[in-house]
Amino acid sequence: MEKTFYITTPIYYVNDIPHIGHAYTTIACDTIARYKRMKGYDVHFLTGTDEHGQKIQTAAQAQGITPQQLVDKIHMNFKDLWRVLNISNDDFIRTTEDRHIRVVQAMFKKLMDKGDIYKGTYSGYYCVPDETYVPENAIIERDGKKLCPDCGRELTIMEEESYFFRGSKYVPELIKYYEENVKSVMPRVRYNEIMSFLKGGVRDQSVSRTSLKWGIPVPGDEKHVIYVWFDALINYATAVGYLDDPEMFAKYWPNVRHMVGKDIIRFHCVIWPLMLLALGLPLPVEVVAHGWWTVDGEKMSKTRKNVVDPVKMVRDYGLDPFRYFLLREVPFGNDGDFSELALVGRINSDLANDLGNLLNRTLQMIKSYRNNIVPSCDASSELSEMAEKTLSRVDEAMNNFTYDEALKAIWEFISRANKFIDETMPWKLAKDESQSAKLDFVLLNLYEALRLSALLIAPTMPDTAKRIFTQLGLDAEPLTMNYDSFRWGDGAGTTTRKAEVLFPRIDIEEWKKAREAKKEEAAMKPEGLPEIAIDDFAKVEMRVARITKCEEIPRSKKLYKLEVDLGYEKRTVCSGIKAFFTPEELVGKTVILVTNLKPVKLCGVDSNGMILAASVKHDGVAEQLTLLTPDDKNIPLGSRVS
Ligand code: MSP
Repeated sequence: MEKTFYITTPIYYVNDIPHIGHAYTTIACDTIARYKRMKGYDVHFLTGTDEHGQKIQTAAQAQGITPQQLVDKIHMNFKDLWRVLNISNDDFIRTTEDRHIRVVQAMFKKLMDKGDIYKGTYSGYYCVPDETYVPENAIIERDGKKLCPDCGRELTIMEEESYFFRGSKYVPELIKYYEENVKSVMPRVRYNEIMSFLKGGVRDQSVSRTSLKWGIPVPGDEKHVIYVWFDALINYATAVGYLDDPEMFAKYWPNVRHMVGKDIIRFHCVIWPLMLLALGLPLPVEVVAHGWWTVDGEKMSKTRKNVVDPVKMVRDYGLDPFRYFLLREVPFGNDGDFSELALVGRINSDLANDLGNLLNRTLQMIKSYRNNIVPSCDASSELSEMAEKTLSRVDEAMNNFTYDEALKAIWEFISRANKFIDETMPWKLAKDESQSAKLDFVLLNLYEALRLSALLIAPTMPDTAKRIFTQLGLDAEPLTMNYDSFRWGDGAGTTTRKAEVLFPRIDIEEWKKAREAKKEEAAMKPEGLPEIAIDDFAKVEMRVARITKCEEIPRSKKLYKLEVDLGYEKRTVCSGIKAFFTPEELVGKTVILVTNLKPVKLCGVDSNGMILAASVKHDGVAEQLTLLTPDDKNIPLGSRVS
């Protein structure tokens, strides 16, 4: 039978900007996809975006656009990021696509026809931002308020007519499956969590909403939309042709693996398998859960302003070091802490020092001692034995999704090769003609160690593997090669190319200085408002005007009543600039007036417009102020500012 491997990322909500959490899941999936391709598997790698539900509807409302406009715009952020991160996905699914909507409705109908979806009334505590009802026993009570255990926000009571999925019926079957397939939820701690959850009892799930519009309609009952998680989970089946391509489905579905963050395992290890059992479909081979990233020891959040932008990391440190760091730094499954200092440390030690030096030293020696030609001889050695072991250690680690273990095994091999240079001292051998065969043996072994290392790092660092291959004089694309056809010694006779620095060392002291300077700059930068579209700006009408009168307003300490001339009309405007000017200073000044502001009454005076000024404020109080005025005072009054 053909070896297939179907790997999926969660589909990402499009109400958020992509950050390292999203990058991490996707890079982990990309790496296993590339690895399995190099092991000869027919791989299908899926990612995509979750585009329905309350969160999206709310985000769209806040921006004054339709949900469809929002998802059409924002899903591109993810597509663009995957390009930057060199992600090799075979498909990108969006839940608003027709191919998906049809599958969701077909599955919903199938379960309705079977009696596994039925109508009832749902009432419960609901977390609006998380779009989920919270079970009574999980609610957090504080100061008389009921709070969401996940996000800490206040819950609201909701009651609505709802369709329910009879998941409870399949729980015993699922428990039995997990008892027989202990590796189907990884790592073990998550398996235990799921088992105890299942054994605690699972209620039927509410799978439709009447309180929301932005979703897939329930077939035959359009006032309901299908609950976003029921819709989202199905994406994995849609994408491999559940409805449209039975052949493809039969090929990939039996080997599906879902990679998820630990926060969403109940959906993937309870709800989804129960849905699959009801539909009569095979269960995922594995659901693999990774931990969460914090940043410099703190939870990542917009309010803390510590959200790590993957694009910035790539720009500052390069793509492959970033990919390497994410997978190497934390034992897969554990939570991890992201720190740029740790990233710089790994670049200097693992990449520049260990790998970079091995390449550089080896190529220099092959050039000096053998005129760039890799010698031929029997290359069986301690290194070749270790190479065999490394290949199988890496394979075992990758099969367990323990990326850090795989990389550790590769770096132990690289370190061994560096030590091999120190032990054999080729520079001494080169001086002694009688040691020529030994020198051949050493150089070929080192070359092979590099050729294998490049292949082994290729899934994690595709570009670096290619760069090493180029310097080694190999034109093949490492990623298209197969690990099982690697033979130690095959590199003999190759002509190597010029050695070039793989990863420049970063001077830590300089780096720290630059970081401090950046921090200072950031502290000076004003908070700023959210981005607006040019159309929003175009809604503001500003024109050149001249102040023709200025009067005090008896009731006000701050305001002047001004008369301004727009050329085509005169208006009364109240302006809070009394503290900065005398009336004599103001009369005759040419200013810029916002002309289409809704009129307001201020201290009993109708004010019809606003004069623009720049100010320095302290604790919200202006300390210094100057009026905006056109450079050329002869520009006609009434001229539009845009
Ligand atoms: N749309 C759902 C998934 C539906 S799958 C059928 C969702 N989306 S999400 O965009 O909120 O999260 C997607 C993934 O990003 C999750 O696996 C989540 O664990 C991961 N991460 C989000 N923040 C993270 C960190 N700070 N660290 C690591 N991963 C985190 O949930």
